[in-house]
Amino acid sequence: MKHFLSIRDLERDEVQRLFRLTAELKARQKAREGGVPLAGRSMALIFEKPSLRTRVTFEVGMFQLGGSAVYLAAQEIGFGTRETVPDVARNLSRWVDIVTARVFAHGTVEALARHASVPVINGLSDLEHPCQALADFFTLWERGLDLSRTRLAWVGDGNNVCHSVLLLAALTGTAVTVCTPPGYEPHPAVVDACRALGGRVTLTVEAREAVEGADVIYTDVWISMGQEQERERRQEAFQRYQVNETLLRFAGGQALVMHCLPAHRGEEITDAVLDGPRSVVLDQAENRLHAQKGIILRLLGDG
Ligand code: CP
Ligand code: NVA
Repeated sequence: MKHFLSIRDLERDEVQRLFRLTAELKARQKAREGGVPLAGRSMALIFEKPSLRTRVTFEVGMFQLGGSAVYLAAQEIGFGTRETVPDVARNLSRWVDIVTARVFAHGTVEALARHASVPVINGLSDLEHPCQALADFFTLWERGLDLSRTRLAWVGDGNNVCHSVLLLAALTGTAVTVCTPPGYEPHPAVVDACRALGGRVTLTVEAREAVEGADVIYTDVWISMGQEQERERRQEAFQRYQVNETLLRFAGGQALVMHCLPAHRGEEITDAVLDGPRSVVLDQAENRLHAQKGIILRLLGDG
């Protein structure tokens, strides 16, 4: 693995290896037994969009591994305007050991990777959020779920997070039913890629049908960053797709609830469900830190 732009950069064996490495890093962190494998190494973090979890977990992760991180707001460095993306990539490669970028267009993170001589990580694009999916599936794995027998229901928008979840599910053998309003399905090329990997993907518009017998219910915002001008149309389209207590009653008694956060409480998910006993959202958020430390170490050849 040279870069981590997509779940497609992972092989099945690599996923299992990352889960084990993440578990080890998490245990070491809990025991405050850090070690400094990345002493003297640094990461550039470029953000075209806001972030809480991604920024903090990458910065803190690098620090805990003995390295450092430099945060670069895209508008401040004129990413793609003051200076071309390839030129930014070439310059950063002379100073830092690894680059993480959160971008609007997936093509931007691909261009960075093409022109950088150091590894590039996708910290969210319009197409994928691979770090999120990896932390999410680690969250299920560490709870002891057999991922090849798990049934996950995605309720809401067939968006970037949905794409990464689908692709990772194809690698772990997890069956996914994606329930979206008509016109908001995941990208057909992503669904085809999952099926080509042997992934079990079902598409439906019926939320109750999707969650019936599900072990995990996952939702995300109806309006992703950059889609603010579609707010009204989306809010109307998604009304019947809220994850609430009524919907949960149609799922298996022990179904876990996932959300990548930030949540729009009262829109795609209710307070009662988000803060309820089945919610694992804070474990997902915490595991971003541990899983990304694993990714960094693997990319830098230290894991
Ligand atoms: N889930 C996630 O990526 O959160 P942030 O947008 O806060 O980074
Ligand atoms: N789908 C959301 C995820 C945020 C972490 C977005 O792209 O805004």
